[in-house]
Amino acid sequence: MRYLLYPATDDQAVNFYQRQSEIMQGHILASSSLPPDAGRVSVYKNYKQLPNVFENDFVKKICTLVEKEGITSIVCSNDFVAWELTRMFPSMPVVTIGDGLLSLANRYLSFEKTSQIFITQFEKKHLRKPIITPLQITEILYSVSCLFGQSYASKVFHFVDILEQCPKKGIVVEVGALMGKQSTALALLGQIYEYKELLIVDPWGSNQTPQKDDHVASSDYMKLLKWDYIKKVCEAHINNQRYQNVQIIQNTIENEVKNINDISFVYLDGNHDYKAVFTQLDLLKEKMLPGGCIFCDDYLWPVSDSVKRAVDEFVEKHNDLIARTVLLDENLAIYFK
Ligand SMILES: C[S@@+](CC[C@H](N)C(=O)[O-])C[C@H]1O[C@@H](n2cnc3c(N)ncnc32)[C@H](O)[C@@H]1O
Repeated sequence: MRYLLYPATDDQAVNFYQRQSEIMQGHILASSSLPPDAGRVSVYKNYKQLPNVFENDFVKKICTLVEKEGITSIVCSNDFVAWELTRMFPSMPVVTIGDGLLSLANRYLSFEKTSQIFITQFEKKHLRKPIITPLQITEILYSVSCLFGQSYASKVFHFVDILEQCPKKGIVVEVGALMGKQSTALALLGQIYEYKELLIVDPWGSNQTPQKDDHVASSDYMKLLKWDYIKKVCEAHINNQRYQNVQIIQNTIENEVKNINDISFVYLDGNHDYKAVFTQLDLLKEKMLPGGCIFCDDYLWPVSDSVKRAVDEFVEKHNDLIARTVLLDENLAIYFK
């Protein structure tokens, strides 16, 4: 197999090349319209200059190159160029890498559509307009969709649903932030809902909170993670937002909860062990404002029934404190009286 990487000068193409093993790199011929001695092109072991895809002699020159070098497929990071190449060479496989303009625009459009549907349903259900606009939701969904996280971007809809109903001006707490995907969503939502403060609580270290109900392979994987770096990324995401009433606290919620009061909303996404979830709910219940909500992530966790068992037991035991529970996809929102 021999691959032609074209165009080879943008970040996604260079990253793709650098990620490949030595063996794979030997099979890649890189090409763009830049001369062979231009800056970034020096990363490539094999490089050939070709015209820009829209220049008259492009088809002739690429055909000669493909034949001479025995190219079997083209790898392309620009979906606009990939589309042109597929049109020119219908029988040549063109593999796209990374996010192109078209896929990013489609992602934005689909978020916008879903936000409109959400707002319409919200208005029907609550007989009022939400504080947030569809465009604001779309922007938040789009921003967090580009971040790494062990949770879906669409969770933003659940946050909005809850924040619209929760007491305003209370504290919002995220338990378990990892790289800060949903922390970023909560910080962006903080600009709109103006909560008193956002507290992001995570120990960022596998030793402090080993997850015992989890699969062994997954616990081993947690030990591999560079927690200091993960924390740094989370901090960078948060500090880059306009909403600045944020505290990032490196601690377990079990140890930190004594310092927290007047909570309107908790996003509970920390240790998923039965014992940990039950203990955390038990400690947090004392700190909730009337009408406040704890969102139990992964209530229907496919890995184990640990979260569900803990939440169900808590809800049964403290039924007198609870106004209602609402299933939001695989998560359970507990509203307090
Ligand atoms: C599932 S990840 C969180 C994913 C994150 N919410 C996101 O949006 O990508 C679980 C996180 O919980 C943290 N954690 C584990 N035990 C905790 C505890 N007792 N208190 C607070 N955080 C905890 C872990 O360090 C890990 O970063």
